[in-house]
Amino acid sequence: MNKKYYITTPIYYVNDKPHLGHAYTSLVADTVSRYKKLLNNDVFFITGTDEHGQKVEEAAKKDNTSPKDFVDKVSKQFINMTKSLELTNNDFIRTSEDRHKSFVKIIWKKLEKIGDIYLDTYKGWYSVRDESFIAENEITINKNNEKVGPSGDILKWLEEPSYFFKLSKWQNKLLQFYSDNPDFIKPKSRYNEVIKFVEAGLQDLSISRTSFSWGIDVPGSSNHIIYVWLDALFNYLSVLSDENKMEKFWPADAHIVGKDILRFHAIFWPAFLLSANLKLPHKIFAHGWWTINGEKMSKSLGNVIDPLYLTEKYGIDQIRYFLLREIPFGEDGNFSEQSLINRLNSDLTNDLGNLVQRVLSMIIKYNDGKILDRNKMDSKDIQQLGLPEENFKKYCDLMNNFEFSNALIVVWSIIRKTNTFVDYKAPWKLFKEDKDKLNTTLNILINTIYKINILLQPFLPISTKKIFKQLNVREFYDFTYIKNEIEVGSKINKPQGVFPRI
Ligand code: MSP
Repeated sequence: MNKKYYITTPIYYVNDKPHLGHAYTSLVADTVSRYKKLLNNDVFFITGTDEHGQKVEEAAKKDNTSPKDFVDKVSKQFINMTKSLELTNNDFIRTSEDRHKSFVKIIWKKLEKIGDIYLDTYKGWYSVRDESFIAENEITINKNNEKVGPSGDILKWLEEPSYFFKLSKWQNKLLQFYSDNPDFIKPKSRYNEVIKFVEAGLQDLSISRTSFSWGIDVPGSSNHIIYVWLDALFNYLSVLSDENKMEKFWPADAHIVGKDILRFHAIFWPAFLLSANLKLPHKIFAHGWWTINGEKMSKSLGNVIDPLYLTEKYGIDQIRYFLLREIPFGEDGNFSEQSLINRLNSDLTNDLGNLVQRVLSMIIKYNDGKILDRNKMDSKDIQQLGLPEENFKKYCDLMNNFEFSNALIVVWSIIRKTNTFVDYKAPWKLFKEDKDKLNTTLNILINTIYKINILLQPFLPISTKKIFKQLNVREFYDFTYIKNEIEVGSKINKPQGVFPRI
């Protein structure tokens, strides 16, 4: 039986249309899910929209639209983004759907029955932008002398009846869990951060609001609505509500999140699950931010980039490649169109594109497109032919560790060595001097390209299909084919540039 793999993106707030930061999280999850499919895992990959809460209600008001119409409108834009990016998600969950709302109510009742919910009054500060209760020691004062939270959002004072979740009760269990599962939170620096925070002491968490109404009613107390983070986190389970899926896919193998929402995922989420007596996910990976001139790209700062503008201008694979290659996953990175262009021209056009184009052109020119057999190989040939297989384990180890940029560096080292091999063998000379050696060289080269292309499928799903087509083979090969070779005697198609220079 195939191994299962369940991966999620955060569900996106629908207060505004998608930007490059959202596309990034989604493209990473899509890359992992395509990679796991190449290992023949049974993958379930989900994304969706987070549609309740004060922030969304306020955005609807500003738009002079009812919350329902507003979330329908904006959610559509996120659904469109998944389509435009050609993501392979298996489902798209919206928290305004009945399947989600009824699931969250069941969970609420469960937590209540266990005795982890009590009624009190919340008095304290709140960040609407982050939908987060802010403790005194997290508050700073901005230049206008206003109290702001960690994201710079101006805080609101709240004083309202509220249900609380006994988060403090789970403190020791959480610490035990982190210590038993050192890979639960990645990267390591974030793991340490979370432990420090929990060790400092957890306060019980306010989990209902009464001063606005856009959300899921608390069962039996309809003047309260459920806190949007409790509501939203359970999307990872409500999307599996169908019994078979729950049994097959839960617990999640990886939740991909931005570092700004790590606390919700690494502390609140496991505490809710422990309380509900459900299994905990295997891994939470917190990535960094794309910044513009050093500032986080975000709607509130007005510096967002539309992912669809970029993909239309440069191509989907090109944007995927850049985002995954440019910065080590987990760290922040500054976005500029110039660095995008430089990266695409140097890696995709000069290295990969050039390799494919020149090798295919030579096969057409010297052998009428036919792949001929190898004869005797010298030590350089043997070394060259072995490169993809030799590096395959390295590549997988890095991919399993979510080190996408390093995995690509490994593939690019093969590509660069292969380009050097072409120059060293100089097939244009062999054509005149030694036909056997020419055929051997071209055979080795075409098979190296075929194998490089197998490794690149998670990153460049559209372009690798085009390259396979030019090789005149199938459109998709899982990793069991890494030892495979193209049939001798088969004929390639005429090459066409896959990565035009920008
Ligand atoms: N709705 C919550 C998540 C609930 S999950 C149960 C939320 N939504 S969000 O739309 O604000 O952000 C979703 C994701 O986009 C987060 O992982 C966030 O880090 C990511 N990004 C938003 N801006 C980003 C950048 N500038 N750079 C990289 N990712 C960023 O939080």
